Amino acid sequence: MGNRAGGGPLIRLQLKVLRDMANIVHAEGAAAAAGQAPVLSINNIEVIYDHVILVLKGVSLDVPQGGITALLGANGAGKTTTLKAVSNLLKAERGQVTKGSITFKGERVDTLNPNDLVRRGCIQVMEGRHCFGHLSVEENLLTGAFTRKDGQAAIANDLEMVYNYFPRLRERRNSQAGYTSGGEQQMCAIGRALMSKPTTILLDEPSMGLAPQLVEEIFEIVKALNDNEGVSFLLAEQNTNIALRYAKYGYILENGRVVMDGEAQALRDNEDVKEFYLGVSGENRRSFRNVKAYKRRKRWLA
Ligand SMILES: Nc1ncnc2c1ncn2[C@@H]1O[C@H](COP(=O)(O)OP(=O)(O)OP(=O)(O)O)[C@@H](O)[C@H]1O
Ligand SMILES: [Mg+2]
Repeated sequence: MGNRAGGGPLIRLQLKVLRDMANIVHAEGAAAAAGQAPVLSINNIEVIYDHVILVLKGVSLDVPQGGITALLGANGAGKTTTLKAVSNLLKAERGQVTKGSITFKGERVDTLNPNDLVRRGCIQVMEGRHCFGHLSVEENLLTGAFTRKDGQAAIANDLEMVYNYFPRLRERRNSQAGYTSGGEQQMCAIGRALMSKPTTILLDEPSMGLAPQLVEEIFEIVKALNDNEGVSFLLAEQNTNIALRYAKYGYILENGRVVMDGEAQALRDNEDVKEFYLGVSGENRRSFRNVKAYKRRKRWLA
C-alpha cells in the first residue's frame, strides 16, 4: 500500500506547517499593515550577477494597492537590483533571479519580458533619469505610450494630464531633453512612465543629485499622483528622511537582506533608524559606554 499524493498524516502535517508559515509571512509587511492584498509581492528572491556574485539574499516585500512603499538602504544595498528583478531588466546586466518568486496582481511575472509587465500596468523609472537626450521633452513623453493600443485621443488626453502634473514640462515641451535641467529630466522620466498608463510605478532614487527644493517638488507630485490617480509606488531611496515622510510603509535593505520593515512613522521613531539612516545621533555618543551600545545595535545590520 503506497502513499497517495497529499495523503499520509505526516505529509498532511508538513503541508499544514508550510501553509501556516506562508500565512505568517503574509500576515506581515506593507500590504497587511494596510489591510489589503498586495498588488506586487516579492517572495524570498535571490539575485546573482555574472553567475557568481550573490547580491540579493532572500528579499521579501509587499506593495499594497494604492500605497507608497519605500525601499531604503545605503549605496550598494540592493535597491536597484530589487526593482530590476521585478521589471525583468536584470538579464541585460548578466543578472538573474535564482530563487523565489515575484507576483503582480496575483500573477507570476518573473518570466515575463519588460514590455509585457508594462502592458500589465507596472513600469520602472530608472535611476539617473534616463531620457533620450536628442529628442524633445514631448517626444520623450510620447515614447512612453508605445505599448498602448487605445488610440491617439486617449494618448493626447494623458499627455495633457502629464503637463498638468508637471507644468515645467509644458513650458519645455519643445526643448531638447538633453539640455533641460536635472530636475526637468527627472520629471520627464516620471512623465514618460505615466504615458504608459501604469497602475504601479517602481521609482528608483528620484532625489538623486537634485537640490532639496526640487526633491520636495517631485515628491509632492508623486503624492498627488498617488492621491488622485491611485498609482501605487515602490520607491527606492537613499534619502531616508524624505522617503519616510511620503511613504506609508518602509523596508530597509542592508547587504541584500531586509533588516527591518514597518510603518513609516514607526521607522522614523526607531532609535537605530534615527542613528544610522536619519543622521540624528543620541547624546554623548562618544563615551565608551555608548560606543559599545552603538556596536551592539549595529549588529542587526550585519
Ligand atoms: N551588473 C552588475 N554586475 C555585478 N555586480 C553588480 C551589478 N549591478 C550591481 N551590482 C552590485 O550589486 C550590489 C547592489 O547594487 P544595487 O545597484 O542594487 O544597489 P543600490 O542599493 O541600488 O545602490 P545605490 O544606492 O548606490 O544605487 C552592489 O554591490 C553592486 O556593486
Ligand atoms: Mg540604486
